[in-house]
Amino acid sequence: MDFKVSPSKVEDARVTVPGDKSVSHRALMLGSIANGRSDVSGFLAGEDCLQTLAAMRALGVSIAQPGPTEISIDGVGLQGLKASAEALDLGNSGTAMRLMAGLLCGQAFDSVLTGDASLTGRPMGRIITPLSEMGAEIDSNNGKPPLKIHGRSGLRAIEYELPIASAQVKSAVLLAGLYAIGTTRVVEPAATRDHTERMLRSMGVRVASKGRQISIRGGQALTACRVQVPADLSSASFVILAALLAENADIVIANVGVNPTRSGVIDILRGMGADISLENSRQLGDEPVADIRVRSSELRGISVDPAVVSLAIDEFPVLFVAAASATGSTVFSGIGELRVKESDRIAAMAEGMRNLGITVDESPHGAVVHGGGFTGGTVESFGDHRVAMSLAVAGTVADGEVLVRNVDAVDTSFPGFCSCMASIGAGIEAIDRDCT
Ligand code: S3P
Repeated sequence: MDFKVSPSKVEDARVTVPGDKSVSHRALMLGSIANGRSDVSGFLAGEDCLQTLAAMRALGVSIAQPGPTEISIDGVGLQGLKASAEALDLGNSGTAMRLMAGLLCGQAFDSVLTGDASLTGRPMGRIITPLSEMGAEIDSNNGKPPLKIHGRSGLRAIEYELPIASAQVKSAVLLAGLYAIGTTRVVEPAATRDHTERMLRSMGVRVASKGRQISIRGGQALTACRVQVPADLSSASFVILAALLAENADIVIANVGVNPTRSGVIDILRGMGADISLENSRQLGDEPVADIRVRSSELRGISVDPAVVSLAIDEFPVLFVAAASATGSTVFSGIGELRVKESDRIAAMAEGMRNLGITVDESPHGAVVHGGGFTGGTVESFGDHRVAMSLAVAGTVADGEVLVRNVDAVDTSFPGFCSCMASIGAGIEAIDRDCT
């Protein structure tokens, strides 16, 4: 499938976007090892989370789906998971692979974790190192999936200083920590999303946070709870971008998660001159949410503070497009992690935007994007959902038609992307490759 994008007139609207991917993954995993039934609303029924749902079922957990965005998990308790007869296929999802590795290395059975072409090329040494220190036994393909996990009980608690700011690595170690003897401590180099800590606390687990250090004592039972998943700020960012770049739009996105460990994109865009306000701020379960109001704005280039990169880690494709539409140049540094996401996002966005007339200077850990207008053209998404959606939004303000190739992965995080964008007037049409 490709996207055919026509120059569009984005208009005033109030929209919703699907549930948060990170929170939905955690609801499935933590709900599965809790005692009792966890009812989850606002669940993201995107491909990534559905792979995790299938994996938890393969591990013996009964999960009902009473509605498209509702699930009900009959938790089996900390020690209740059962071996899966098959390898667990986690599709495109780094979050699923890394968190599941943490969850499964302390079980009394073996597991195999695998995924698609993108996921099997992604680095897993970052979790294998700390989990092995805890006594886990994990075979890999030179640090990449598939992972064969030789489950064993009685992991050792460790103190681990994360060499990179990664919520996935932090969460993998904390989940393994639940199965360890003693208190496991992780120290982050910079704050990363804290959904795991919040949900564990909601389920009655004591998780201590002191500065950049998070500790968890092993053996604590989880109690099932109701999880209300907020709308995903990462998905909302595409709507925010379209609204900002439009000529004169005023758009509200309802009920979006604005956890401060996730909301760096709002601060960075505001620094570029974006008119974004949070209305109706409130608490939804353990996560803060708000309605995000965006008015079209003149953006200016800035130097993005590397200290806030981990708070906006998934939004750099969006920020690259914002930078291309700004006056002057925008300097991104300390973003080397983008090279090991679903694609090499620095290279993918640089190539895509160059094909649309933008000048981008790349370096190993950064990029400088020079503002200018987008031309029409054909671009490749490299099978990366966020690259595909960012380039599609760029197409809405290009001076000709933009074809974004190979966009099937959009369903991993944002099912209904085209109809959501159509509801604000953006002409993004999914077309079958065979018809082009
Ligand atoms: C995620 C953490 C981030 C992010 C990913 C989701 C999570 O990855 O990029 O999309 O749910 O924990 P890293 O922890 O590797 O930065």
